[in-house]
Amino acid sequence: MAILGAKTFQNYIGGEWVDAASGETFESTSPANGDAIGTFPKSSREDVDRAVAAAKEAYEDWRLVPAPRRGEILFRFAQLLTEQKEDLSQLMAREMGKVLPEARGDVQEAIDMAYYMGGEGRRLFGQTTPSELPDKFNMSVRQPIGVVGVITPWNFPIAIPSWKTLPALVSGNTVVFKPATDTPTLGERYVEILIEAGIPAGVVNIVHGGGGEVGNALVEHPDVPVISLTGSRETGVEVTKTGADRLKHIHLELGGKNAIIVLDDADLDLAVEGIVWSAFGTTGQRCTAASRVIAQERVYDELTSRLVGAAEQLRLGVGWEEDTDVGPVINQAALEKIHSYTTIGQDEGATLLTGGEVASDNGLDKGFYYRPTIFGDVDAEMRIAQEEIFGPTTAVIKVRDADEAIEVSNGIKYGLSSSIFTRDVNKAFRAMRDLKAGITYINAGTIGAEVHLPFGGVKDTGNGHREAGQAALDFFTEWKSIYVDYSGRLQRAQIDTAD
Ligand code: UN1
Repeated sequence: MAILGAKTFQNYIGGEWVDAASGETFESTSPANGDAIGTFPKSSREDVDRAVAAAKEAYEDWRLVPAPRRGEILFRFAQLLTEQKEDLSQLMAREMGKVLPEARGDVQEAIDMAYYMGGEGRRLFGQTTPSELPDKFNMSVRQPIGVVGVITPWNFPIAIPSWKTLPALVSGNTVVFKPATDTPTLGERYVEILIEAGIPAGVVNIVHGGGGEVGNALVEHPDVPVISLTGSRETGVEVTKTGADRLKHIHLELGGKNAIIVLDDADLDLAVEGIVWSAFGTTGQRCTAASRVIAQERVYDELTSRLVGAAEQLRLGVGWEEDTDVGPVINQAALEKIHSYTTIGQDEGATLLTGGEVASDNGLDKGFYYRPTIFGDVDAEMRIAQEEIFGPTTAVIKVRDADEAIEVSNGIKYGLSSSIFTRDVNKAFRAMRDLKAGITYINAGTIGAEVHLPFGGVKDTGNGHREAGQAALDFFTEWKSIYVDYSGRLQRAQIDTAD
């Protein structure tokens, strides 16, 4: 395929393709079989400085482009993504590893976001409201903020950049984008398509390289007032501390330890399907993945045995083969981390019901494959039930009733997604109210958020901001309140209203 044959790529700064100032590079390889995908500039502070300067300059024009025109570029972007959906999906299966149907879903999520945010070009609604004084008009309008630093992970290499860049752009901000070093080709393609859609020079810039260099330089830069990061809790804390001195606006989407509750009255067939999809889809590498299952006593045995049966049916392999169910994990370090949790679970006394090993038969030794893993007899306080593993491992916990299920579901530091399978409408509504999470699913797994609703979580999953939906606009704009006095005289609010 044309996408193979490792090419050398560059940064895109101020409308030009350029190497890193240092001339250094790094490689992207496939987690599926080790194939070389591309060579990328290993950038540093100097490159970030240039990109920020370009974005700052471009901002002065871009903020004045009528928002509907900005939206039209996003519509064109959506059309181009649609035309290139299959190519991008094939590339994603190679560079990131996810199976083709999910890769197509990842690209589709960006298409959906491009249409949704393109439409915002003709909305970006504010409020008009009466004044307390006569002959006076009040309104609030959204205003762009400036240069936005976008730092994205590898697990949704097209979708997540779209969640951050598209609302930022339609609102009139400019962007410096640092994609994950595990998926730089997809980040690069994303920007190429934006350029093809008509994004002017300097409005979107891409700088490749590691978080320690490029990410830090963005977060520290005085001319980048806004940072949006999806990453680990530890990185989120560091970014918050670093940005604090300059009072930056920081959006964080961090970890999850999401649970699916299965009550005794649940449709078990549906629950099993939902759990397998949420625990092992994307090889468990979603912030929203179901890495815990909370089963009520009476269904526990039946549910675990059905889950084990279903997990053992899953076929591991390269993501671009249509009959693969579960692709590789992202890299060697991830494989080791995931396996270390198998050891931790066994040491803690949980029962390993299936999986728990690296898969290396049938040519899988060329990539990073881990067998879908299920632990039973898990105590809610065990590390495998508390810490984010980010791999195909789930822990089944037994509880007495719905109240205990909700308590266990909430008994973690994170609060991203949650789910309950029950036919009892009263219990479902209690769960909707009481589950401490940014997202709750009823009779569906923990994954599958749609772009027009807010996405994000409570507690250590974030810092109160949300992406996607209208909530994204609240992060990427600032409100300005405007008072127009057409009385021709001095009118003092709170004073001249008394009589
Ligand atoms: C993530 O894992 O960071 O709801 C994003 C979902 C996807 C997005 C996941 N639409 O699982």
